[in-house]
Amino acid sequence: MAEAAFNHDFGLERAWDEICELGLQENVAELDAYGYTIVPPEIASPDGFIERLLEKCLDVSERRHGVRPDLESGYTHTDLERAKAEYRYTGHRYRPGGPLGDVFHSLLLEDEVFEQVLMSRVRLALVTYLLGYNAVMSGIGCWIKGPTKAMLALHADNPLPSPFPSQCMGCQSTFWLTDFNRENGSTAVVPGSHKLLRQPLGEEKIIPAKPGDPGNQDAIPLEGKAGSLLIHHPCLWHGAYNRTAPGLRVSVTCFMTRPFIRTGEDYTGMIPQEVLDRHGPRFAILTQQGIKAGYSGWDDEKAKVAHAEKYISAYAKEFGGSYRPNES
Ligand SMILES: [Fe+2]
Repeated sequence: MAEAAFNHDFGLERAWDEICELGLQENVAELDAYGYTIVPPEIASPDGFIERLLEKCLDVSERRHGVRPDLESGYTHTDLERAKAEYRYTGHRYRPGGPLGDVFHSLLLEDEVFEQVLMSRVRLALVTYLLGYNAVMSGIGCWIKGPTKAMLALHADNPLPSPFPSQCMGCQSTFWLTDFNRENGSTAVVPGSHKLLRQPLGEEKIIPAKPGDPGNQDAIPLEGKAGSLLIHHPCLWHGAYNRTAPGLRVSVTCFMTRPFIRTGEDYTGMIPQEVLDRHGPRFAILTQQGIKAGYSGWDDEKAKVAHAEKYISAYAKEFGGSYRPNES
């Protein structure tokens, strides 16, 4: 690629080359047409990646909550009284029987396997198609859901008021650590709804429990084996079916945004040097080191700008380009 300034238009040709190299052209077409795509396990999660990721998620859950999630029966996520007795139950985002289940974030620095979630080449190629090379991570979370009667209503992740801007502002990516299907409480989507650029209203938000029930008749369950990777547009209407099967559904999300959007987790200046040293310049950009966070004064401004420019400059050099402040 010819030398170019590091700016928001940078890298379309490079992004497409990488998509072709990885054989993801069909996934890009699905993202455009339907607002989502599912990459199969053999491409998304080779070499036992998903097994390692699942074990580490169970480790973190056990460390934070006091008991290891029971994948077979799922009692740890359904029986409130037993869960309270056996968990160091804090009530934080965890409501047995609720539509979300147990959701816990801030996983990046828990284990190197979460760095691999962030740096997955397949994931990054599709994220880059939607958000460009200066996309940043908003956060990495684990979702563990047991049997429940509650559905998660259809919604778009875009937090902006309707109508949404036509440019993509964020992107959800989800590694499925257990099989996803209707009985297991899979993700529900309305294919093509990302083109409507608004939140669903009234009955549009309701997932029918069975064909013919009231609700959004265009909602469908997404199905696939453990190890699959779901990427979806932030404007796509999505939710989740209730889980009717015993056991637990486990997934790991890595939400991505444009760099000017406030992230869920704050890593600017917070990543240990040894972690940064394990990766190339893009890892620093993805973990928000290129963000010039809000200033509290002149000295703070100088320090934060210098910090950000150090990492932006290194990233631009990797591309064979250069970083020139104030140049778009
Ligand atoms: Fe969502």
